[in-house]
Amino acid sequence: MASSSTHLQPPALPSVAENDDSDVDNLQIEAEESYTTSLKSSITNYRYENGRRYHAYKDGSYFLPNDEDESDRLDLFHHIMSLRCGGELHLAPIGENPQRILDLGTGTGIWAIDMGDKYPSAEVLGNDLSPIQPSLVPPNVRFEVDDIENDWIYGSEFDFIHSRYLAGSIRDWPKLMRQAFKFTKPGGWVEFQDFDMKFYTTNGEFTPGCPLDQWTEGVVEGIKAFGLEPEPGPKLEGWVRGAGFENIHHRLLPIPVGQWPKDKKLKEIGAFDLIQFLDGLEAITLRVFTVALGWTSEEVQVFLADVRKDLKNPKLQAQHNFHVVWAQKPLNAQ
Ligand SMILES: C[S@@+](CC[C@H](N)C(=O)[O-])C[C@H]1O[C@@H](n2cnc3c(N)ncnc32)[C@H](O)[C@@H]1O
Repeated sequence: MASSSTHLQPPALPSVAENDDSDVDNLQIEAEESYTTSLKSSITNYRYENGRRYHAYKDGSYFLPNDEDESDRLDLFHHIMSLRCGGELHLAPIGENPQRILDLGTGTGIWAIDMGDKYPSAEVLGNDLSPIQPSLVPPNVRFEVDDIENDWIYGSEFDFIHSRYLAGSIRDWPKLMRQAFKFTKPGGWVEFQDFDMKFYTTNGEFTPGCPLDQWTEGVVEGIKAFGLEPEPGPKLEGWVRGAGFENIHHRLLPIPVGQWPKDKKLKEIGAFDLIQFLDGLEAITLRVFTVALGWTSEEVQVFLADVRKDLKNPKLQAQHNFHVVWAQKPLNAQ
């Protein structure tokens, strides 16, 4: 584990009255086995709600499921973002031979795996509350179960720290940024990519108050009620600056929903984004609306039928904003 979690302490070893080494060894092995078993179950003893599976470690602190449907959606999201970033995995100029890369809240680990393939020089570490990453990965890629809001205790700094789509995951972004600053090598880079939840249109028929708009309002309100930040995207640049990074870059990437754009590339991205939303709508909504806003799951399903209609309506020309911020730790920083 990379952080100083108080959650997962090993049980105290039983005391041994007589100084018999074999007894001590046996008890130690038993204690370690029991520690490993309780550690494993605290991570994999998943919670089920409304037919969806949720993370066990830090139970209840994150609102999206961690089941196969959600993993498929996250992999599709990775494809959408790769397309939207012109085929690039990141925009920060990290050079050809980075040594240590950290991916915060790695999800299925697909970005970390692609980075491991792209940069054989690098050791890539991805962490997450859920151990949903594959075990067959490039030899330079590793995953850990961890809560990135805990204090980080990595042995050495990273050349590149990255996070993507942590909307609704983090309580204290300024602290996360301070930790990222501390654990970036002087001259190294960070990159944060995240959402502004709300939909808008420039020329279409999307109107404030329509079901799609009500839906994002509800998601934002519910995530806030959980004490989490629903829309980190527009705030990333200010947090990065506040943490002490320099050479800050900010790119705004509108993402269309549906095939309404004329531009061929955006049309393709919009087609995938529509599938991503239709597949993920229930996952994004259920825990937030039932637990935070007090709706029944039946009420949610009825409402989502209207939201789906809006998502599929090309006349709305709906899009939402994604922010990419990358920055460098000053060379003279400690
Ligand atoms: C929406 S997913 C994005 C996954 C991945 N970054 C991507 O772009 O595909 C957010 C991920 O952050 C993880 N997460 C949420 N809160 C976390 C925390 N406090 N510590 C570590 N991981 C966390 C979730 O388990 C989930 O896998």
